[in-house]
Amino acid sequence: MIDTDVSVALPPETLPARDLSANDFTQSGVVALEWIARGLSDPRRHPVRPSVVPGELSELLPRSAPLLGESMDAILEDFERLVVPRVTQWNHPNFHAYFAISSSGPGILGELLTAALDVNAMLWQSCPAATELEQVTAGWLLEWLGLPRDWFGMIVDSASIGVFQALVAARATASESSGEADGVPDPRFTVYVSEHTHSSVEKAAIAAGIARRHIRRLPVDGHYRFDAGALERAIEQDLARGLRPLFVAATVGTTSTTAIDPVPAIADLSERHGLWLHVDGAYGANYAVHPDGSAFLAGVERADSFVVNPHKLLLVPLDCSLLYTRHPERLRRAFALEAEYLKTGVSGVVDFMDYGLALGRRFRALKLWFVMRYFGRQGIVAHLDKSLRLTRWFGERAAEDPRFEIVAPIAMGLVCLRLSEAAGGDAATRRLLESIHATRRFALSHTVLGGRFVLRVAISNHRTELDDVSALWEALSAAAGVEAGASNASGD
Ligand SMILES: Cc1ncc(COP(=O)(O)O)c(C=O)c1O
Repeated sequence: MIDTDVSVALPPETLPARDLSANDFTQSGVVALEWIARGLSDPRRHPVRPSVVPGELSELLPRSAPLLGESMDAILEDFERLVVPRVTQWNHPNFHAYFAISSSGPGILGELLTAALDVNAMLWQSCPAATELEQVTAGWLLEWLGLPRDWFGMIVDSASIGVFQALVAARATASESSGEADGVPDPRFTVYVSEHTHSSVEKAAIAAGIARRHIRRLPVDGHYRFDAGALERAIEQDLARGLRPLFVAATVGTTSTTAIDPVPAIADLSERHGLWLHVDGAYGANYAVHPDGSAFLAGVERADSFVVNPHKLLLVPLDCSLLYTRHPERLRRAFALEAEYLKTGVSGVVDFMDYGLALGRRFRALKLWFVMRYFGRQGIVAHLDKSLRLTRWFGERAAEDPRFEIVAPIAMGLVCLRLSEAAGGDAATRRLLESIHATRRFALSHTVLGGRFVLRVAISNHRTELDDVSALWEALSAAAGVEAGASNASGD
């Protein structure tokens, strides 16, 4: 007979698993909320870059999780004492690495309530509000971006998953049209990206079973934009070899320089040769909400799929990426499987699990809805406007200083600059980055353009002010002076 008295089987000291009482939850919740509020009102209180060596936190933590539960007080204390000092402060106004981000109060509250509701947005029936809010916010965002309102949109965790799903749909559609519906990718499929397309597209192609030798990384023009002529030649060569051009990715706001690929010309080629056109607007498309960015999405209405990440620029905390397509049925045919335990009998609704890889889906639309409502379009435009103004200000300072060169056009919230050859070139630019990072006051990142080492200064945190950008410029300028002194002394 099975013993149903669980306590008999457990060690005597085992206590029942009790969640926080309402009182205790409120008490710890206040501590946590106050901690967040202090961070939002005093966002410069921690250094941007932690002073830490690899393995440091792991050394400080026990090897095993506790047998007996601990108090929330102790946990929150260790969060502050052990974790926070080792956090890279992405939400800091002097975080200018990669693409600067900012989560906002409404976004954080949305995230908190999402965790509290803990619903799974896999089916309409599994949470009607989550599904419908996702549909509504996806439509609202299309309108802000000036794209067709009737596109199908869904929220995924990342642009990487978005492009993967698009590629799988493209592959499945091409396979169906040539009568090979068993899902094995045709080894003749080819995929086209530029040297500056984000690596997530190549990764998606690999994961979707496209032969690596058939992923074409094509050249860019003098402004780091996809060279449409090179694309045309590559497609024609592949066709002549008996290959099957399948998919091309154009980018609005490339990672290294924020270049905008010639989407209309790429759309012409895609239509002529029957390729699936994916537009990666993960970062740059967000600027289309601003009047200065309204032309950024020219031609995107002709794309087969498109991604934009509100978690990069629209004040929504990680993660929130929108995947749109004109062909929801193709996405559905690629991903829908009928598992008995997931059948609902409800028709005329969208079950998002049928349009992508993940079954379990967080209620991400809640934080997007909070942010869109709280700031409104005007608030978002004001935020983007500040980012563009501060970026231009910084770009002007660099352009006026003969020791620096601006290496790519400034279109969005990013300046790519380096020390000129006369001021020390690559080696001095690398040292400049190291010395700025050693101060822990600023976080920058780098790229390589045309074989040259380049600093990337991304400016789009909601709380970044002119004083912050000005302090960064002064620090860079002083470090450049030290570099110049060092190279004069060494007779370089
Ligand atoms: C242009 C571009 N596309 C795609 C990505 C990948 O985004 P995610 O991290 O959401 O996959 C990035 C990341 O910065 C990016 O800059």
